[in-house]
Amino acid sequence: MMSFPKKIVLASHNAGKVAEFQTMFEPYDVKIIGADVVGLPEPEETEDTFEGNALLKARHACEITAMPCLADDSGLSVTALDGAPGIYSARWAGPTKDFDMAMKKVWDGIGDKPDKTARFVAVLALVHPDGMEYVARGEVNGNLCYPPRGGYGFGYDPIFMPENETQTFGELGAEGKDKYSHRKRAFDNLEALLKSI
Ligand code: IMP
Repeated sequence: MMSFPKKIVLASHNAGKVAEFQTMFEPYDVKIIGADVVGLPEPEETEDTFEGNALLKARHACEITAMPCLADDSGLSVTALDGAPGIYSARWAGPTKDFDMAMKKVWDGIGDKPDKTARFVAVLALVHPDGMEYVARGEVNGNLCYPPRGGYGFGYDPIFMPENETQTFGELGAEGKDKYSHRKRAFDNLEALLKSI
């Protein structure tokens, strides 16, 4: 049975993500080190899958730090848009991170198509300096609504209602969102993967 290393570099400059992962790793006594702390540059996300980009970021961080590195890649995948924005979820909001615009673009893209289903996807990649690589995915299915609702969360949260909920992630807030979190599900799958080895 494998276990998590005691120190992991998180290949992300997002303080929110560092805090989120620190909480998830708390029971394992793992220290999460943010990319800022070790001065990691951000590589260009050139792959065309969540898995590819998560691995690219984790490998890049591992080459620089020679420490175990964790990276995540996530996004919203809309059925009526053949999976878009997908890996381009952040990029749809443009350089000013205008998610009101990105959410409108999603809704306009769906147009009068009756299928309003979508899913959030998160993929985690853990790369060790010895070359071992572990990848795990988590998903949450739901339905989109418009106009956006709720002031919590970030990104596409205000237009996404998880399956069997009438409130959006923007209305549910951190606690409500937690039980559906695609990142937490990916984490649980990564944990199960390591335990199985
Ligand atoms: P990443 O940081 O490159 O993985 O980009 C992920 C992008 O997907 C974010 O900028 C958001 O637009 C979107 N996204 C991922 N997870 C969530 C979520 O939990 N809520 C809302 N948007 C999300």
